[in-house]
Amino acid sequence: MGRFYVTTPIYYVNDVPHLGTSYSTIAADALRRYHRLRGDATLMLTGTDEHGLKIEREAQARGLSPERFVAEMSGRFEAAWPKLEVQADDFIRTTQPRHKVGAARLWEEIRRKNPDDLYLGDYEGWYCVGCEELKTEKELEQPGNLCPLHRRPVERVKEQSYFFRLSRYQSQLLAHYDRHPAFIEPETRRNEVVSFVRGGLRDLSVSRTTFTWGIPVPGDPKHVMYVWFDALSNYVSALQGGDGGIDRTEFWSPDTRIVHVIGKDILRFHAVYWPAFLMSAGLPLPSTVFAHGFLTYGGQKMSKSLRNAVDPLGIARAFGQAVRAGDRAGADVLRYQLLRGIAFGQDGDFDLSAMIERYNADLGKNLGNLLARTLGLCAKLTEGRVPGLAAPTQLESDLLAEAENACLRARDAWDAIAPHRALEATIGLSSAANQYVDRAAPWAEAKKGDQRRVDTILAALLQVLGSLSVMIWPVLPDRSDAMRAQLGLAPIATREGEDRWPRGPLPPRAGDALAPAAPLFPTIDAAGASALLEALTPRIQGPDAASSAGDVPPERGSPEPSGRTAPEAASPESSGRTAPEAASPESISYDQFSGVDLRVGVVTACEAVPRKDKLLKLTVDVGESSARTIVAGLALSFRAEQLVGRKVIVVANLAPRDFGRGLTSHGMLLATGPSERLVLATVEGDAPPGAKLK
Ligand code: MSP
Repeated sequence: MGRFYVTTPIYYVNDVPHLGTSYSTIAADALRRYHRLRGDATLMLTGTDEHGLKIEREAQARGLSPERFVAEMSGRFEAAWPKLEVQADDFIRTTQPRHKVGAARLWEEIRRKNPDDLYLGDYEGWYCVGCEELKTEKELEQPGNLCPLHRRPVERVKEQSYFFRLSRYQSQLLAHYDRHPAFIEPETRRNEVVSFVRGGLRDLSVSRTTFTWGIPVPGDPKHVMYVWFDALSNYVSALQGGDGGIDRTEFWSPDTRIVHVIGKDILRFHAVYWPAFLMSAGLPLPSTVFAHGFLTYGGQKMSKSLRNAVDPLGIARAFGQAVRAGDRAGADVLRYQLLRGIAFGQDGDFDLSAMIERYNADLGKNLGNLLARTLGLCAKLTEGRVPGLAAPTQLESDLLAEAENACLRARDAWDAIAPHRALEATIGLSSAANQYVDRAAPWAEAKKGDQRRVDTILAALLQVLGSLSVMIWPVLPDRSDAMRAQLGLAPIATREGEDRWPRGPLPPRAGDALAPAAPLFPTIDAAGASALLEALTPRIQGPDAASSAGDVPPERGSPEPSGRTAPEAASPESSGRTAPEAASPESISYDQFSGVDLRVGVVTACEAVPRKDKLLKLTVDVGESSARTIVAGLALSFRAEQLVGRKVIVVANLAPRDFGRGLTSHGMLLATGPSERLVLATVEGDAPPGAKLK
């Protein structure tokens, strides 16, 4: 038993809480709950990252002061997490005075311990505002100098800046990775970092002078700290007890297990820059930076629009209704799917149908069924009371040995930060118990009148259920409470210094009353599943996008879009629906607008589509590694050859649309006018293919 400190990334407030950010937060919460069960003193921190150019610009774009914008957005994160059963101890905002003091303290500590580590110089290079990071020429995609992650042109910056002497830390970092193999996990990520650091480290620019939305550099307030220096220091600044909070600095010590849960996209900041800052300031290093993988949704990369459409709270709510057990139960099911369905550390796909299937199989038909049948049998055969283990046979010893084994395996998996394996062992135990009931057949013993055997079998099952109710708690806290109530047990209460992780079977007390069985995880039938899918399938393309100039319903005879997420026709056409007065009078939010990926494209080839007299098939360069095929209803206005070389505006994030015979459109062009006299939207000047419209 010791101290355990787990953190999530602090999230940028230019976005709302979404499935990706919930994944990190839920994983951290589950780990933390596991350590609570083990009797550790635990602390979980999350929060929001509120400074930097990206946030300043987003606030400007919405016509708000940065202060007001960040306060509003941060509140959404703080309100969201408890609805997903996350119990963080602290929520840090980088605009809080306590954090500003803490970040300045780290800067000053570096200055004091290693005065040469921070020096003034000139900084020139390519900056991606999305990543808040300088990029090397080599990293950029051509044409267009695009950030490979955000696929947006980077900006040239030149200014005076403080540099952190990162280059000095190369060998110290490598030695640390070598001595502490668990410092970066999983191993593949560790190897990536090691080879990056072996390749040599350049000093890091850690201040900016061309904007002001940040924390002033101590002693030189024309500079604000680089947003990543500011952000990383949150893990320590939150512990320092500022703003009237509790001093928890004991959690930043070599004898605390400190785990940073992050996504793989921000590994370099956490595994290279952060430990170097800490080394320079003479502070202890975290134990583990665990980089989990990235989620796709139903096979699609999570663009901002899709992320916004897949609202984790909506999923939890809808599941709660579907299983008639409330929002908290729905949150449990989401937590289970995220942590069981995806191997922690690897990329994974989140898919609603898979979630329903897994829920039915693991929770409904396996664990839920085990509880229901055991309690049902007790109601009938033991007067609803916990019987004693009177006449055990080999069957019982096998089951109880299996329970011991599963408890150990799950415990080891949690210790190794592998929730998917811990859950596998947990549900595996439930399967073993279900098989045991079939073999031990208490109903047959009852028929024979052997009450001692009946009692023994049901007592063994109740013991296993007692353990399972604890083992599921890190991931399914609400369902654990419900299960324990049925078993006549109090909800889990953890206590520092007391290890409550089961070592094996954990019996309710013989003679205690059991509650009547009520389905813990009612299975979702086919009708329920389709209603759920219907309610939750994201509509990433709102009605506004579909009615943009030139867009029309599919032409007669062309295949219907395959599902609700399929785009409307990528084709301007003649219906006249584009008359200005037909436009929706409702306003849309900035988020909705920024979810539409509008880009400059250049038509590199164009041809007619056989047997489709309104359609043209265009090849359009939108600044990606290969050009896209876009099918558009332009043939009444243009001959194919007229369009080659034209600069067009492309809606680049519409889901692909199938036109049959192997023809799929990957985007839509903007245009206006009746279909026989269409005018294509374009941009003036020399915007490169891929340039984003904003
Ligand atoms: N503000 C920085 C982090 C500073 S930590 C000192 C930042 N914020 S972020 O809002 O962009 O959040 C990034 C994190 O969200 C990722 O590292 C990851 O943990 C999570 N995810 C965002 N999208 C995700 C997926 N599609 N899949 C999985 N996790 C994702 O970077």
